[in-house]
Amino acid sequence: MPTLTYEQRRGEIETYFDRTAAEAWARLTSTAPVGRIRATVRAGREQMRQTLLAWLPADLGGCRLLDAGCGTGALAVEAAQRGANVVAIDLSPTLIALARERMPTELGRGSIEFRAGDMLDPALGDFDYVVGMDSLIHYGAADTIRVLAGLAARTRAAMLFTFAPRTPALALMHAVGRFFPRSDRAPAIQPVTERALRNSIVREPALEAFGLQRTQRIVSGFYTSQALELARR
Ligand SMILES: C[S@@+](CC[C@H](N)C(=O)[O-])C[C@H]1O[C@@H](n2cnc3c(N)ncnc32)[C@H](O)[C@@H]1O
Repeated sequence: MPTLTYEQRRGEIETYFDRTAAEAWARLTSTAPVGRIRATVRAGREQMRQTLLAWLPADLGGCRLLDAGCGTGALAVEAAQRGANVVAIDLSPTLIALARERMPTELGRGSIEFRAGDMLDPALGDFDYVVGMDSLIHYGAADTIRVLAGLAARTRAAMLFTFAPRTPALALMHAVGRFFPRSDRAPAIQPVTERALRNSIVREPALEAFGLQRTQRIVSGFYTSQALELARR
């Protein structure tokens, strides 16, 4: 794969989620019936969302939270219902429109501002928590670090994000996947080894004030993703 700049890769991801996969994504994130393989992905994603939400304080009243790459907004809604003032941003205007449609009218003390754009936009302001569920899994390690470094200065408490762990089984699945024509429509997930990611985080000067805390890998059929907590020391 040729090396793309962050902006080029972001453009590919935007096209994919805004057009190629928008419909499939809308269905996966709904309660509409899906096939067996997608059902495993849906179950794994539900587990991941609950894991990330469990790492946040039970009462998020008065907290500003960035749902970075919010998709159709499920995590943003749960965080707002626990009191957070959420800024939920995604590259895909189509998914943002759907997220707005799906937003319940009752959010209690919380609020959600849905926006289409880049999570790195400094105009979004400062946050207590940043949560990026499966939004960095499409970037290589260097871009992941770049995004985390960019968000660090604007995060007061912690950044929770997921990465696609590179395991021998997954490497094989990705290699086999390349032979299927459908794969070139998708911005392939870019697996990274946990050790390499941890080393890059520790070496990144912009992340000096943050320590690696909890981690949790979720494996559910065709879904594999691992959550990491980076908390301000
Ligand atoms: C796999 S989806 C996950 C969506 C949502 N977090 C969820 O778990 O349902 C990844 C999302 O991240 C978004 N994304 C990727 N890079 C982004 C960026 N730089 N800024 C904003 N959104 C981004 C994509 O548009 C896509 O909707």
